[in-house]
Amino acid sequence: MIYADNAATTKMSEAALHTLIRLQEEAWGNPSSLYGHGQQAKEVLEKARADIAAVIGAQPREILFTSGGSEADNQAILTAAALGKRKGKTHIISTAFEHHAVLHTLEKLRKEGYDITLLDVHENGIVLPEEVEQAIREDTCLVTIMAANNEIGTIQPIREIGAVCRKKGVLFHTDAVQAVGHIPLDVVKDNIDMLTASAHKFHGPKGVGFLYAKKGIRLSNLIEGGAQEFGRRAGTENVPGIAAMAEALKEAAAGMEKNAERLMAVRDRLIEGLSRIPHSALNGDPVRRLPGNVNFCFEGIEGESLLLLLDQKGIQASSGSACTSGSLDPSHVLLAIGRVHDVAHGSLRLSIGEDITDEDADEIVRSVGEVVAYLRSFSPIWRDLMEGKKEFIL
Ligand SMILES: Cc1ncc(COP(=O)(O)O)c(C=O)c1O
Repeated sequence: MIYADNAATTKMSEAALHTLIRLQEEAWGNPSSLYGHGQQAKEVLEKARADIAAVIGAQPREILFTSGGSEADNQAILTAAALGKRKGKTHIISTAFEHHAVLHTLEKLRKEGYDITLLDVHENGIVLPEEVEQAIREDTCLVTIMAANNEIGTIQPIREIGAVCRKKGVLFHTDAVQAVGHIPLDVVKDNIDMLTASAHKFHGPKGVGFLYAKKGIRLSNLIEGGAQEFGRRAGTENVPGIAAMAEALKEAAAGMEKNAERLMAVRDRLIEGLSRIPHSALNGDPVRRLPGNVNFCFEGIEGESLLLLLDQKGIQASSGSACTSGSLDPSHVLLAIGRVHDVAHGSLRLSIGEDITDEDADEIVRSVGEVVAYLRSFSPIWRDLMEGKKEFIL
């Protein structure tokens, strides 16, 4: 079996898993309690906070633990919106290919009267900092742009975008769920005011994440109740899960350079091999993309059928983000980079992990080639294309 859907979720690393299990036994106290067991759990919690902060160049007090990426995205955006409104600023800038945790939150704000500008991400899936600058207005309260896209893996010029925001005095949030643990990030050097991360994308447990918010940003609470997390996020902390996240992040950071080098070699081998399939195209920039991301469109086929047949051959992949597979709408990310509906339907995302081998890559290329040819053999769209009733796009 080849697992090539690490953008959907990753398997926990051994170290993270052991930390999780060990601390369920050893640090089960409530970190808000003042007696021994509580204080022991509190120590574990604060150590994890310090370790995580160190990896991204933050101060421990700037890290707030959440239930994952979606919650952190919601809290960051709603905070900026609330702060902006108090100053009469209700304009927010983002892009059309953000994760739904961002897009749906923005949609909610639009209905409340906020003005939302979604910037073009161009054919290569990269936002231009100068276009961010041009879009900023007197009433802009937030720019929220993802660090790396979850479907096509393109890496945004975060540092330059952050610099523009800083110059203009506008808050900058980045959804870095796909980037943290995979590419270098430093909240100070990269001019980031708020950053979202999720443990299960870097070999940590599911249901745990964090929001970095620069000192001085008064976060709005999504969850009211106890005074946990500096009074900004109520609910007893998931101490073992948080410690396991810290363990996974430290491991990912320590191995990042070596892993990235190896992943990029296999990624490029896959890209080279899949490009040989006729009427196929790589989605997103070939170079400025996550080390483990490959995303292709194949004309004349349905991505869902491709996935099912690949699964039968022992290859697990995705046709888009996990949340949209199962829906018949083509990916909003592929539409945002200008793919037409028919083509966007025939997409395949391979997000490879560190254990992938060259032989796995060759097997994927071979299997995808066979399945695409098989599906085309009875596809009405492919027949129309072959008979000249429709024009090839790719
Ligand atoms: C870019 C991005 N943002 C946010 C999320 C949501 O994270 P979580 O599953 O931890 O809520 C995901 C998960 O797929 C993602 O890829």
